[in-house]
Amino acid sequence: MRAVVLRRPGGPEALRVERIPEPSPGAGESLIDVTLTGVNFDDLERTAGAQPELPLPAVLGVEAVGRRRADGRRVAALLRQGGGYAEVVAARDAYTVEIPAGVDDAQALGLFEQGCTAYGALSLAGRLRAGESVAVSAAAGGVGHLAVQLAVALGASPVIGLASTSVKRQFVKRLGADVALDPADPELADRVRAAAGGAGVDLFVDSVGGAVARAALAGLAPFGRLVCLGWRPGTRSDPGTVGGGAVPAGAEPAGTQDPAGVVAVTTAQLAQGSIGCAGFWMRHVVDDRELLCGVADRLFELAARGRLTVHVDRTVALHEVGAAHAAVAARATTGKVLIDVRREV
Ligand SMILES: NC(=O)c1ccc[n+]([C@@H]2O[C@H](COP(=O)([O-])OP(=O)(O)OC[C@H]3O[C@@H](n4cnc5c(N)ncnc54)[C@H](OP(=O)(O)O)[C@@H]3O)[C@@H](O)[C@H]2O)c1
Repeated sequence: MRAVVLRRPGGPEALRVERIPEPSPGAGESLIDVTLTGVNFDDLERTAGAQPELPLPAVLGVEAVGRRRADGRRVAALLRQGGGYAEVVAARDAYTVEIPAGVDDAQALGLFEQGCTAYGALSLAGRLRAGESVAVSAAAGGVGHLAVQLAVALGASPVIGLASTSVKRQFVKRLGADVALDPADPELADRVRAAAGGAGVDLFVDSVGGAVARAALAGLAPFGRLVCLGWRPGTRSDPGTVGGGAVPAGAEPAGTQDPAGVVAVTTAQLAQGSIGCAGFWMRHVVDDRELLCGVADRLFELAARGRLTVHVDRTVALHEVGAAHAAVAARATTGKVLIDVRREV
């Protein structure tokens, strides 16, 4: 079969199409003839060598849709160890769901990993209630564009999306966001507070870290929550960018670099602001079969009713995966990047 194999960490050029034997399913696994897989930020990090705990050489790709060979059913699968960038994958049955008739393969692919992440951040970790205000960083991205739509569908108001270019911000507004902001705005915390009605935002879902996470903390309303989905290495943390808002007690000194994009939060900050911080990791949904199926059903149902749409930025062939990774790394994509594993040109 054809597959994209990573033999050693590197840039997008490290991703090569090879012919390798089909995988053999282990206990509790089934073979899937893959139609589509997709690019996730996780794949970029693994390519760059940021996940040394996972062995190489490896076939990348943490998600796939296709037909289960045993019964011909259309399924979506999450692949914790990778394997999706291939014509055939052996997927854990516990991490696989059937796709309902009203949802096509592209929608199912985008909804399963990234949609479940968006839902988990908003509802499971963020405990969003209808009528609350929500802000989402990287709002034009794979997870972010679904989080904006879900926030609207769950009754949030206003919904604020952060994105780095005016084209992306227009896209975020078309998704249903009331306000779209530039994450590099030095007054970001003030802008978030103003957009949320002055007192601050009730829920901020952040996957960028650094200065954005600092602005998120400073922009929270009393009883507001920050949900952390991840962070970008090298994100500069500079309290000067927290706008006119007070730098909370216990914050790092001005000009501190966060080489990993991680922002320290103190219990004093939480108490003095009456705010909360939570994290979300998909693993804790994936490992709970009932929860995973429940969240997937909810998302598929919203998609079938037209309340949630995966916007496809581009669909590439296996030999174009390196270029697709480069586009995501360059922040040049909006929505979902798909890989059609059967396309050869
Ligand atoms: N916790 C979990 O379980 C979980 C699961 C899936 C994904 N995630 C996280 O969610 C985030 C989004 O993932 P995704 O796959 O949907 O990717 P994505 O949003 O399609 O792409 C990443 C976006 O992040 C923004 N960004 C900010 N700083 C960046 C930087 N230094 N380099 C590159 N992009 C930067 C860019 O948007 P702008 O240009 O608009 O800023 C970019 O479009 C990632 O941080 C990922 O690790 C977490």
